[in-house]
Amino acid sequence: AFYQQYFYDENVYDLHDGGYKKLAMPAVPEKALAMPSVLQPDRVQGHEAWYTIVAQTGETAILPGKLTQTWGYNASLLGQTLILEDGWHYHVHIENHLPETTTLHWHGLNIPGPITDGGPHAPIMPGEAREIEFTLHQEGAQTDWMHPHPCPNTARQVWQGLAAMVIVTDEHAKNLPIPQEYGVDDLPIILQDRTYHDNQLDYEADYDVDGTLGTVPLVNGTVNGVFKVTTAQLRLRLLNSANRREFRLHFDDGRRFTQIAGDCGFLEQAIDLDRLMLTVPERAEIVVDFSDCQPGDRVQLMSDDAVLCTFEMDEFTKKAQAIPDHLFDVPKWQVDPDSQLQTTVMSGMDDEVLLDGKRFDMTRIDRQQLFRQTVDWEVKNTNDACGGMIHPFHMHGCHFQIISRNGQVPYPNETGFKDTVGVNAGETVRIRVCFDVLGIFMYHCHILEHEDTGMMAQIEVYDPKHPKTYDLKPMHEM
Ligand code: C2O
Ligand code: CU
Ligand code: CU
Repeated sequence: AFYQQYFYDENVYDLHDGGYKKLAMPAVPEKALAMPSVLQPDRVQGHEAWYTIVAQTGETAILPGKLTQTWGYNASLLGQTLILEDGWHYHVHIENHLPETTTLHWHGLNIPGPITDGGPHAPIMPGEAREIEFTLHQEGAQTDWMHPHPCPNTARQVWQGLAAMVIVTDEHAKNLPIPQEYGVDDLPIILQDRTYHDNQLDYEADYDVDGTLGTVPLVNGTVNGVFKVTTAQLRLRLLNSANRREFRLHFDDGRRFTQIAGDCGFLEQAIDLDRLMLTVPERAEIVVDFSDCQPGDRVQLMSDDAVLCTFEMDEFTKKAQAIPDHLFDVPKWQVDPDSQLQTTVMSGMDDEVLLDGKRFDMTRIDRQQLFRQTVDWEVKNTNDACGGMIHPFHMHGCHFQIISRNGQVPYPNETGFKDTVGVNAGETVRIRVCFDVLGIFMYHCHILEHEDTGMMAQIEVYDPKHPKTYDLKPMHEM
């Protein structure tokens, strides 16, 4: 179905924020859109693979003239893409070649916390390394990412460039008639914004406690990128990995596209849209059909009135396929009648932001949830002063289903599993949450500066049959 009436309320957009900075493509020459290469394993044996990930400094040609000092994973900026298979066992060796402590968080993977998951309890000091291993059990293929999570330096490290796409795939996804050739018709599209000062980043100069914004749009780290389209359809794996910015996406010619997946996998039904808003760090997979185009035609991806990148048609080597209406049987989770409804409140703006009236404390467990129990949570954003702002709520270690928004049915593109939900000012979103891994996990506002200010808490997922204790220390004592 085509949703002509878009479902986000304009009043909640970040445009109304005092610190809002408009995006504008600078007058720089076009260049080929960067396509992160796929990280190759060190070794594979059966359904087991070994990888090395290096967080490193580097220099990247972003704007004409001087190179920009940047950080990345196995690359000078952003990172190589990791493609993982559901059901496999992974060993990852993570090296920190940065001048400061970092962590590596797997945003979207259901793996044990607090160490494997890579939150602030899993620091890697400069010059050191950490080994982790996990078996991947995801309900559905998905587009995820990895990013640093040291407290309170996540925002600055992401701004510096650390962010890489992680793709999880499975048999169901491989068998759907959708584009699947990485870098050809199945593309990572990593959306960010930055400001450059004589071609360099200056996080302190651009810092905004409500989320740092830049004026230059980047896609996969490229400013004014062009992608040569050789297939009639493209699948775009959109990841909003900005610190704060909402991307309100559409094409310059108003063309429709089909959303097939959200954060954590396929939607139940494919839906047609002509615009799509992503808060940080929501993901969406869309399929765009260019069958009506001729070689040489150009179509631009926009956010509001800013160009993000350009698709330029070449001869098509592959024809369009019909996208099935029904994509995935999303399991209908039932809330456990023995569970207690949970309420969590995101409040405030600027340096007043709080989660449940508190600031983050790494030594405090804020709540507990039983392993494999399905529990409803009401996530409230009480901040509606001066229009308020959206707080994107994220949970580690689990996927959730969105049940309602202020008692109404959720948006049509929220029918799949999610790990992040944009909660509008004055709104209560009900989500259904089930963890099938144990540990201590973060939940927080994903505006990175809010997270670093302390709009974050932690939950222990426990199994009474396997009690565990955790030695929780603040980062400076580790
Ligand atoms: Cu994307 Cu707590 O993380
Ligand atoms: Cu996360
Ligand atoms: Cu927030």
